[in-house]
Amino acid sequence: MAKRKRRSAPSAPVSEPPVRPGLLSPTRPVPPEIGRPPYADSGDPGPSSSSTVRTLDEVARMRRAGNAAAEILVEAGHCVRPGVTTDRIDAVVHEATIARGGYPSPLNYRGYPKSVCTSVNEVICHGIPDSRPLADGDIVNIDVTIFLDGVHGDTSVTFLVGEADDHSRRLVAETRTAMDEGIDAVRPAQPVNAIGRAIERHARKQGLGVVREFIGHGIGTEFHSGLQVKHYFDPRDDTLLVPGMTFTVEPMLTLGHPACALWDDDWTAVTLDGRRTAQFEHTVLVTDDGVDRLTVLPDGTAPADVFA
Ligand code: MF3
Ligand code: CO
Ligand code: CO
Repeated sequence: MAKRKRRSAPSAPVSEPPVRPGLLSPTRPVPPEIGRPPYADSGDPGPSSSSTVRTLDEVARMRRAGNAAAEILVEAGHCVRPGVTTDRIDAVVHEATIARGGYPSPLNYRGYPKSVCTSVNEVICHGIPDSRPLADGDIVNIDVTIFLDGVHGDTSVTFLVGEADDHSRRLVAETRTAMDEGIDAVRPAQPVNAIGRAIERHARKQGLGVVREFIGHGIGTEFHSGLQVKHYFDPRDDTLLVPGMTFTVEPMLTLGHPACALWDDDWTAVTLDGRRTAQFEHTVLVTDDGVDRLTVLPDGTAPADVFA
């Protein structure tokens, strides 16, 4: 049988014009009665010390944090339209988080200045909300994390702004599918690298790149804990999954080459070639016979499905 040819990405223009940094609004305050994570004042989360496996009580709290994160992401998604600034999305996420009694986990995490990440077009992740209005045809990832009742829930969706071109639509749709294939590879006694294997396989079939510099992570009482979840296959990652583990699956796929660069704000990661990139994220739980998505609405709907 003939060797299958690698399908190359159809040519798409570099995202034009490039995203440039805007102005930041003043720091948004969090009321004193809201429970704060340990880094809220110092900015320093310290070394990770938590177990990779959650207690039943922690899992129950993570379901509520996950539901809240999903609801906040849906609220944010409803205000995506041309002309809305990413700072406005930050205000909506900040208020919606506090309204649920939670702390917006990104705020002052390692000094991050805002309450959500908003990553537009060629921005891979960790875009900082600012005065830039969304433009018709943009794509924007909104990455929400809430700290509620001592645990975090972390989830993101990439939204189309107005009428996006076909390349962008396909990138967004296939990135979501890649995340779902990665999550569907989760079950007890499987190695953690089964996740990246599934994501990478899907990306390759679609001629899309997989960003390697940012990975999924253990999550629970800590925002980012020990377990590392690569979105590509690494044969060395043979840690076996165990019921009660909680972590994120959050692949970033690219239309062009997946190499990245960092803006001089030290947060905003962009593709080196300037072509577009998309991301989706769920926080998941390894169950006795498979996997549960924790960052869904109370009726089980994923935030992305509200907009599909
Ligand atoms: N939510 C991001 C993640 O998926 C982390 C953002 S850290 C921040 O892991 F400081 F940039 F907010
Ligand atoms: Co995450
Ligand atoms: Co996130």
